[in-house]
Order: sequence, then C-alpha cells, then structure tokens
Amino acid sequence: MKNYLLTPNDLSLEDIDNLIDLANDIIKDRSRYEDVCRHKILGTLFFEPSTRTRLSFESAMLSLGGSVLGFSEAASSSAAKGETVMDTVRVVGSYCDVIAMRHPKEGAPLAALRHCDVPLINAGDGGHNHPTQTLTDLVTIAREKGRLDHLTIGFVGDLKFGRTVHSLVEAMSRYEGNRFIFVSPEELRIPAYLKEDLLDAKNIAYTEVERMEDVMGDLDLCYMTRVQRERFFNEQDYIRLKDFYVLDKRKMELAKDYMIVLHPLPRVNEIQPEVDDDPRAAYFRQAANGRFIRMALILSLLGLDQEVERL
Ligand code: NCD
Repeated sequence: MKNYLLTPNDLSLEDIDNLIDLANDIIKDRSRYEDVCRHKILGTLFFEPSTRTRLSFESAMLSLGGSVLGFSEAASSSAAKGETVMDTVRVVGSYCDVIAMRHPKEGAPLAALRHCDVPLINAGDGGHNHPTQTLTDLVTIAREKGRLDHLTIGFVGDLKFGRTVHSLVEAMSRYEGNRFIFVSPEELRIPAYLKEDLLDAKNIAYTEVERMEDVMGDLDLCYMTRVQRERFFNEQDYIRLKDFYVLDKRKMELAKDYMIVLHPLPRVNEIQPEVDDDPRAAYFRQAANGRFIRMALILSLLGLDQEVERL
C-alpha cells in the first residue's frame, strides 16, 4: 500500500479488501485494538468545516489509544496569517505521525504531499475527491449487500459538485458488472470527465435521468446527496435546486425490498426523517462504519495492521 491516500485509485483492489477485512475485524471486538496506536499522534488539518469526517478521524485515533492535534477551520490556523498549505503540512508533519487534511481547493493535498514526511490522507478537497468517505461507503456496501460487484447504483442529487459521488463512481467502476444510474437536474449532472474518461473509456453502462420515480424500482443501492450550497456561485440557483429530490416513504414503496439507501451526511431535506426507520435506510450505519474504516486506514498507513491477531 502507498503511504498516502489522495484518491481512491491510490489503493489497489487488494488494499481495499484488506482495509475492509480489518474494519470488519475491528467491528467484531474493538477492545483488542485499543492500545495499538499508543504514543502515536494524528494531525487533523481542516481548512474547511466538517463534523463527521473530522470527528470520525479523531474518534478512530482515540479508539486506537493514540492522540490527536489540529485545527478545525482555516481561521484558527496560520493560514489566516498567509501561511501556505505546504508550509503548514511540513511543520505539522514534524509534530505528528499521520495527517488527515481537508481543504476547499481541489488538488491542495497533492500539492502538500511533496512537503509531508508522514502519511497524508485527503479528507476532502473541494469538489474533487473524498477517498475516506468512499472507503466508508465501500465497507458499508460490502456489509449490507455482501458484495461490491454486479450492482445497479443510483446516484441522486448534486452529481456535479458532490465529491463523494465522484470518488465512489471511480471506485465502483473498478468492480465487474456495476451499472450506474445518475439522477440529477440538468445543471447538476455528473462531470464530463467521469463520463468520458472513465465510464465510456471502460465501456461501463450508465444512464442519466431527471426523475427519481422512474428508476427507483431498478436500484440495488440509492446514494442520496445534499446540494452543495458552498460550491454554488449564486444563492438563487441553490434555492431553486435544493429541494429537487426528496426521498420519502412514498418513493421507498417503489424500491426493491433489498435496496439500500446511503447518504454521506449531512442531509438537509433530501431524505425525510420518516424514512429513517425503514430497515433499508443504511445511512446511520454507514456513518458509524466511518470510524472503523478510518481505524483500519490509520493502522495500515502506520504499518500496524498486523499487530492484532484476527478473530
Ligand atoms: C460530505 C463531504 O464533506 O463531501 N460529507 C462527509 O464527509 N460526510 C458530503 C457533504 O458535505 O454533502
């Protein structure tokens, strides 16, 4: 495995399998892992707000017996004084053993990588990529569906700016027999680079539709997303598009009994709370898995993944 994670493609399929196996072993009884990272430090450099990703990274390191330092907004770091990301990473790298970094600019972690002496994890860069959310999604799909291939996957919502969508499409296109249905308004369609350079190039089946009701019954997996307000250029467009898709009980009735609903969270209006009690609603299980797959990732990047005997 490489000693950094910037996009899901930095992991081989074997790396992904190993991380999922390790996460599953941690889930079986995490008390066996509670000291493995003692005296290790995770640096969390969050130049953009986050709740789940930052806290799940922190929770992961604390659950391994390690410690955490960092900042949760650019305003409370030296970025506010004009320091470059490269310098921040270089310095913080000398204070810790592994870094998780989130930045509003696409490619910022790549620029930082050359200046970083410890393993670097991209915790989200602008509208580009979010590989640890993808790992969270993959472990959840593997646990819920028992496989990562031959699935019909619907992506619904903001497919233009949603980095979790971009990373997961990249990852799922590496497994055989997966088919994609992209459900979005015209303005928020999946970027051309993913369609042309990835799906067309690999001859992978996909369709683009506007109405969710038309495809609900075909899906094995429905990946809902929030309209990414912070990446819009004007508020009016956001207001017009924000409630374009709302998953409710009525739409769930159109879906297969074994379909699952995922969402990287936070949700705004796009999934009604009435759906939460449906056994097919897997998004809170998914959020919980985020901690365990990040534990697996930290262990692997630190070379400590073989320290505990597997159950
Ligand atoms: C996602 C993100 O930050 O891209 N959230 C997350 O990490 N769980 C999705 C989102 O913000 O909509």
